[in-house]
This record gives sequence, C-alpha cells and structure tokens, in this order.
Amino acid sequence: MRALVTGGAGFIGSHLVDALVAEGWRVTVLDNLSTGTESNLKSVMDDITFCKGDIRDRQIIEKAVEDCSVIFHLAAVVSVPQTIDHPVESALINDLGTLYVLEEARKKNIKRVVFSSSCAVYGDDPQLPKKETMNLKPGSPYALQKMTAEHYMRLGYELYGLEAVSLRYFNVYGPRQDPSSPYSGVISIFMKMAIEQKSPIIYGNGDQSRDFIYVTDVVKANLLAAASAQARGQIVNIGTGSSVSINQLWDMICALTGLTIEPKYQPSRPGDIYASLANVEYAKLFLGFEHDYPFEKGLESTYEWYKQRKST
Ligand code: NAD
Ligand code: UD1
Repeated sequence: MRALVTGGAGFIGSHLVDALVAEGWRVTVLDNLSTGTESNLKSVMDDITFCKGDIRDRQIIEKAVEDCSVIFHLAAVVSVPQTIDHPVESALINDLGTLYVLEEARKKNIKRVVFSSSCAVYGDDPQLPKKETMNLKPGSPYALQKMTAEHYMRLGYELYGLEAVSLRYFNVYGPRQDPSSPYSGVISIFMKMAIEQKSPIIYGNGDQSRDFIYVTDVVKANLLAAASAQARGQIVNIGTGSSVSINQLWDMICALTGLTIEPKYQPSRPGDIYASLANVEYAKLFLGFEHDYPFEKGLESTYEWYKQRKST
C-alpha cells in the first residue's frame, strides 16, 4: 500500500511518515519546505519518495498521487495570525490547494483522504466542550479556510464517493515543532524560551485555554482514520478532553525545568480563541481513538527533545 503525505516534512507530517514507514507502507511525501525541513525526514529519507513541490502545482500533485490508495493531506499555512496577515495567499494554499488534492484523488480513484482540519473552525462560541455537531463560527481566515476545506471533503464523499475523513485537531505539540517564527505554536516557543532562560510573551491575560494533544496521539488518530470503516464521511475531534490555560502552561514548564521566570504580557492577538476543549466521544465511536499521553508526560518528553536539540 502506498500513501501520499502532503506536508510530510513538517512537524506532524514527519511523525506520520515515520509511523507509516514503520508499519510497512510505501510513502510519497509532497512538501514545498516552506516550514518543513528535509532533516525532519532524515531517518526515513532512503525509504520514501520525496517530491519537493507545491500543492498549488497540479502537475506535481498528479505525479505524487501515482499508485496511492490513501492521501493524508496536511500541507497548509498553519498559523492563525499568518492567515490574518496573508488572507489571499493562505486561501490559495489551504482551500484551492486542498481542492486540487481532492480533484486528483477523484481522477485517480484514490480510496481515502484523511484531512488535517482544526478545532479553530468552532470559533469563540463559549459553549464547551466543542462537539462536532455544533454550529461553526470561524473567527479567522485560517478557521474559515479549514471549514471550507471540510465542506470540499464532504462533497467529495457525497458526490464522488471518496472516503473522506476530516480530523479536527486541537492544539498539537511535541518534538520537531519549529519554534523559530513568531507564528510558531506556543509550546515550541515556550520551550525555546525556557532553554534560553528568557521571559516568554503571553498575549492577553493568559487565562485563555487550550486542549493540548501530543503528536504521537495525533499520528495514531490518522492511522485509525485511514483504516476504520465507520470513519468514512465523518468529521472527528482529535483532542484529550482536558485543557490548561496559557498561564498554567508556563507555570508547568517552570516547574519542569526548575525556572522562576515571570512572563511578559502583551495585548491579545486578533482572531485568538478564548477557550478550547474537545468533546472526544466521536473519536472513540468512529475511530476507536483515545489519547495515550497525559499532558505532563508529553510536556516532559517534548522538553527533553528541545534540550537535546540545543546541545547537538
Ligand atoms: P507544519 O508547518 O510543520 O507543517 C505543514 C507542512 O506543509 C510543512 O512541511 C510545509 O513546508 C508544508 N507546506 C505548506 N504549504 C505548502 C504548499 N503550498 N505545498 C506543499 N507543502 C506545503 O505544521 P503542522 O503543525 O505539522 O501542521 C500540519 C497540519 O495540521 C496543517 O494542516 C495544520 O493546519 C493542521 N493542524 C495543526 C495543528 C497544530 O496544533 N500544530 C492543529 C490543528 C490542525
Ligand atoms: C494552533 C495551531 C493551529 C491549529 C489550532 C487548533 C500553530 C502555529 N497553530 O493555533 O494550526 O489549527 O492550534 O486549536 O500550531 N500565545 C502566547 N505567546 C506566544 C504564542 C502564543 O501567549 O508566544 C498564545 C496565543 O495567543 C494563543 C495560545 O497561546 O492564545 C495558542 O497559540 P498558538 O500556539 O499560536 O495556537 P492557536 O492559535 O490556538
């Protein structure tokens, strides 16, 4: 069996590629290396087909899907503020790029597509936990783009019989998350600050909360989504069902590292969601998925990875 992983040189994608190779899949990666790196794939590079290219390039997608039975579609602009700064460019990737991938899947009779969506689609509705059946209220171009892409997935299922599965990840963290940009995920940035013994910036009062899920659990959800018969045509939350605030997060990192560094506070970011927490019933029902990593354990192994990375 061959799988195409778009965005496979990125943070989550590269862990998924590792797992697929370990399970005996043949894997093609399509990635333009805008935020991903070949070094994320160094342990599997000899075992995979790597296509450096853009999902906006239809010819390259056509080549990349050759012989595949499953597509894991992860390539995207992933930062909420980046899509606010660049709404058109991000829509061309997150929406039109997704449509190109789905169109190629349709033409080549690819059996299943597993799409990396986001809990951002729920927006700032105060109702918690977020359930898949809730009305969506996207509050950023990113959220709207993911919602639109989910609808293309639904149409792929309803009109063309594509086995489409959309996974709404909550906040993913773990080794290989790139901390180098202001658009990076909060845990990667906080790990970098802890290692450099500097104050992090907290946007807003820090009471905003997130349901953080370890990357290995997200990979497991993808593998289940590719295999489960009940997952066809579904949209499923991938979270843990518990959350921590950004203030608590920094306190936990201080406790883990023995630091006592006060954060600096800046105004909250436009489009930022206040509270986020997953209802995980559908994940259990449609995928048989439950997360394995408690937050403390995931945070500890993430910190170990960043520490080791600094010393090499
Ligand atoms: P990432 O930036 O590490 O991965 C994205 C990958 O896509 C990178 O390797 C990048 O080079 C590639 N890419 C970007 N634009 C491309 C294009 N036009 N053509 C080809 N490749 C392109 O981010 P990640 O955190 O691993 O995110 C993976 C997916 O998961 C994304 O779709 C993201 O929206 C989704 N997601 C992530 C989170 C999270 O907390 N990290 C949460 C919800 C959803
Ligand atoms: C993240 C993902 C997005 C995903 C969404 C699902 C990234 C870059 N973004 O967005 O792809 O769809 O989760 O929920 O992976 N913060 C600080 N200081 C910092 C950085 C962030 O206080 O230095 C705060 C932010 O204001 C926000 C929270 O931490 O309140 C999380 O921010 P971030 O990691 O960027 O994630 P989301 O915007 O939730």
